[in-house]
Amino acid sequence: MKPEVFTPLGSGGPAMSVSARVSRRNFIKGIIATGATVASGSMLGTLTGCSGETASTAGIAGTVERLITLNVNGKARRVDVLPQETLAMTLRYKLGLTGTKLGCDRGECGACTILIDDIPTYACSTLSHGVRGRQVTTIEGLQTANGDLHPVQQAFVAELGPQCGYCTPGQVMSAVGLLKANPSPTREEARRAMSGNLCRCGAYDNYLNSVMRAARMS
Ligand code: FES
Ligand code: FES
Repeated sequence: MKPEVFTPLGSGGPAMSVSARVSRRNFIKGIIATGATVASGSMLGTLTGCSGETASTAGIAGTVERLITLNVNGKARRVDVLPQETLAMTLRYKLGLTGTKLGCDRGECGACTILIDDIPTYACSTLSHGVRGRQVTTIEGLQTANGDLHPVQQAFVAELGPQCGYCTPGQVMSAVGLLKANPSPTREEARRAMSGNLCRCGAYDNYLNSVMRAARMS
């Protein structure tokens, strides 16, 4: 039987037999070479993606820039933040501002209260990416430049507000937020404003007395 004849398209060259051009050895060599090329290509893509993540992914729809700037206590802070990260986590574990406490971590106790644009807010229920361009104030940002306590903190000390103290930063931040919005609250208004802050030591009257003292001082 005559061997099948193969003529490369457009080559115009002499015809050759398939059995001569495509031996089993050449075929296997070709497969190996193709696999190596694909592997190196995908590896190159992966490495490029890793080393140039900001440049290559910044413009891709659906990606979120992780290195962001937050305004915390009057300072611009650059920080690497995951898309799903809460402000409480960022403040405590990325920026070292551990005065913001975590109690329930689900918006029930108020231990994590901070101010966002002077409004008391639960940091455990706020995404860090959502406060870009806003003014964040924590308990660390209340004391004056020379280290004096904020008048509200002084009032809390005078009225023996803190017992174990765990809820105190949140209580103070809620009181500061209240007095910024309403410098002369009635006791009932203060009670309502502080109702989002639980105290397992039950020092509610002490805290309320503290808020009313701070209002008289300001
Ligand atoms: S820790 Fe945020 S409300 Fe309890
Ligand atoms: S002072 Fe202890 S929880 Fe409030």
